[in-house]
Amino acid sequence: MGTQSQRLDRRAFLRFITTVPILGATVAFLSPLLRLLKPNVKPFEVLYSPTAQDIPLGEVAVAASVSEVAQPWDFRYFVFTQKYPQYTPTGLRQASVPGVVLRLPQKIKLPWDWASSIGKPQLVGQESDIIIFSRICPHLGCIYNFVSEWKEVQAGYGGYTPPDNRKHALMACPCHLSIYDPADPTQPGRVLSGPAPRPPRTFLYEIRGKEIVVTDVEPGGIA
Ligand code: FES
Repeated sequence: MGTQSQRLDRRAFLRFITTVPILGATVAFLSPLLRLLKPNVKPFEVLYSPTAQDIPLGEVAVAASVSEVAQPWDFRYFVFTQKYPQYTPTGLRQASVPGVVLRLPQKIKLPWDWASSIGKPQLVGQESDIIIFSRICPHLGCIYNFVSEWKEVQAGYGGYTPPDNRKHALMACPCHLSIYDPADPTQPGRVLSGPAPRPPRTFLYEIRGKEIVVTDVEPGGIA
């Protein structure tokens, strides 16, 4: 009797250990099949819902004093520090965004409608003759130059000759020769020539006493 029940136990045990891999293989086979029949289109929804924490943070910085850009086409370069959330122990990653403050010869509408989309103060439609551009070229990210004389653009940036109404200071990228018009009244920074897909991004700023203070830069990647 004892030997028979031992044999039964052994048989049940053998049956058990052969069933486990078969079950595992069946699940492994059915799982992708079921996912194929009912695909999950939002597997990581959290990645598609950025929170306020995910928006880059700008550091308020003095870009120029008002007297430094008092006359038409006066300009001043500066560097703005932007912080990006980073999910590591260091918390934030910093990036330096070079910019240029310009005094234009006439007032234009500032292109700040981007601000409302991320809950920043709305300054849409405000007019000013001071505009501040990021110097990161929207083509592939080189640093472009503000060129006070259009003839220097013609001589040093691929021979581009602007039409008569744009024969003034321009912005030009040495990498692939994109040329921008900072004073275009309807689209400041308009691309006049070259491969850039859009005007350079602009900064938000405030005039605080005698200083021009940048508070944020238009969000977005290179292009
Ligand atoms: S990076 Fe400026 S034109 Fe290409």
